[in-house]
Amino acid sequence: MSPVTSSQRKPRELNAVSHSKFRDDVLRGLAKSPKELPSQYLYDDRGSQLFDQICEQPEYYLTRTEFKIMRTHIADIASAIGPNVAMIEPGCGSGQKTRLLLHHLRQPYAYAPIEISRTHLLKFVQRLHSASPNLVVHPVCADFNELSELPEPLRAAPKRVVYFPGSTIGNMTPPEARALLARMASWCEPRDQILVGVDAPKNHDVLLAAYDDAAGVSAEFALNYLVRLNHELDATFDLGRFRYEAVYNETQSRIEMYVTSQVAQTVDVAGRPFCLSENERLRTEWSYKYDREQFRKLTASAGLREACCWQDPRGWFRLHLLAVSGGPERVP
Ligand code: TRP
Repeated sequence: MSPVTSSQRKPRELNAVSHSKFRDDVLRGLAKSPKELPSQYLYDDRGSQLFDQICEQPEYYLTRTEFKIMRTHIADIASAIGPNVAMIEPGCGSGQKTRLLLHHLRQPYAYAPIEISRTHLLKFVQRLHSASPNLVVHPVCADFNELSELPEPLRAAPKRVVYFPGSTIGNMTPPEARALLARMASWCEPRDQILVGVDAPKNHDVLLAAYDDAAGVSAEFALNYLVRLNHELDATFDLGRFRYEAVYNETQSRIEMYVTSQVAQTVDVAGRPFCLSENERLRTEWSYKYDREQFRKLTASAGLREACCWQDPRGWFRLHLLAVSGGPERVP
């Protein structure tokens, strides 16, 4: 395998198909009312760096709390999963947590990251191989939201566990989250399991601070979206005329992240003009917070049942181990 350099990850390397999908997705989002910027594009190279920095901010409790739960309960978690499993991870690179889990699983059958970007996947697999040369790795290059069947070697494994850490499930709407859980369940056999990270509702000040840290990294992360649009879609965003806002929507139990236009203005994106009024918001991401019962209902509607649940002493974050129970409790 030839070495993959980081320059290959740069946006200009987006192939024609993904570039036109990027443009279409963004234009479709901006044509909506209220306007939105599809959140998967927050993570270009700079966005990924900034997100890593968010995870280190004192206010962003999520990563730290999840890792603490993993460290405290790893023996329990590994024994609830059992030996000889193929561990399947939609998206790659949750790094430390993945390594910790792999290290504690008994005789893991294989590890299978599913990742849409071939370049990221190759790079990740290379790193993994040098760190754990004995681990059998089956990289799957696919969009996990569309993957309907696992490749044969993974179907042949004695057992599977799908690992979905980091509260990414919260970035989907509940129907999307249910559909993804049902898709993961469709990769599974009746004895298989899903291990998923879930952030809990809590004090609003704690939540708002986590999504709007004092050092301004969250703001820079969201505003970087506009920088990306300027570079890649010939957009004309003047960053001085936008601000970042995080809002807690209590009814929906979610944090909403926006870049907000400070003045009435027109911006061009990929040759199309968009009028923004003063204080008009462009939504970049939602982050749903579920209590245990809400999440139990969501998973039950996807045909899953809670086998175990681990949380930190404050109950801020949870890891749910879900069992594929065969058929949804009720059809959504
Ligand atoms: N997946 C992250 C989360 O929901 C995304 C995120 C964290 C984010 N901080 C942000 C998105 C600030 C936009 C702005 O926790």
